Amino acid sequence: MIKKLAVLISGNGSNLQAIINSTKYGILKGVAEIVIVISSNPKAFGLQRAEKEGIKNIALDYDNMDKNDYNNKLLELIKEAGADLVCLAGYLKRIPENIIKEYKSRILNIHPALLPKYGGKGMYGHHVHEAVVKAKEKKSGATVHFADEGYDTGSIIMQKEVDLDETDNHEEVAKKVLLVEHEIFPEAIKKVVEESKNDN
Ligand code: GAR
Repeated sequence: MIKKLAVLISGNGSNLQAIINSTKYGILKGVAEIVIVISSNPKAFGLQRAEKEGIKNIALDYDNMDKNDYNNKLLELIKEAGADLVCLAGYLKRIPENIIKEYKSRILNIHPALLPKYGGKGMYGHHVHEAVVKAKEKKSGATVHFADEGYDTGSIIMQKEVDLDETDNHEEVAKKVLLVEHEIFPEAIKKVVEESKNDN
């Protein structure tokens, strides 16, 4: 049975695109399909990517909604879509507890660093890469992990390193890391799907 994915985004959606491409032409073909894309930001370009592919996509305006309403609506949409797994693909809001509870060990998050380093509250997007450059790290990378109640604390599913040059600025680090994000997110989804089959 093909597993159904709900993909949550907040912005550009390049990780969403990597997952879409993988379900169409790559390792997720016949393994998983995206049943809904939900954005916390109505202006997210990722919504257009989903629309172009004919994938159901909905914006919930996080900044202008009551937080309880937002959390309830988010869970309702994910459940209605019949999602087996929830993929946080550049979703920059904290995932509410009602969803963590309902989808325990079924929520995957991609983080643009080698966790447990450079994770935690406030460590997202460019903040991560700026911190990595400031610390003069020789390596960074990407991590896919299960989301739990904390910030970037759930168990790690997959990681991949990239080498950094001394001269890399945070934008160059982001580019290098994003390339491996696009590789490992589909791989991590496949791994979780395969392991869930072994549990049955
Ligand atoms: C990605 O680098 C992702 O790892 C990061 O946001 C970017 C979204 O890019 N997520 C976090 O920092 C979460 N803590 P995308 O919209 O092009 O996929």
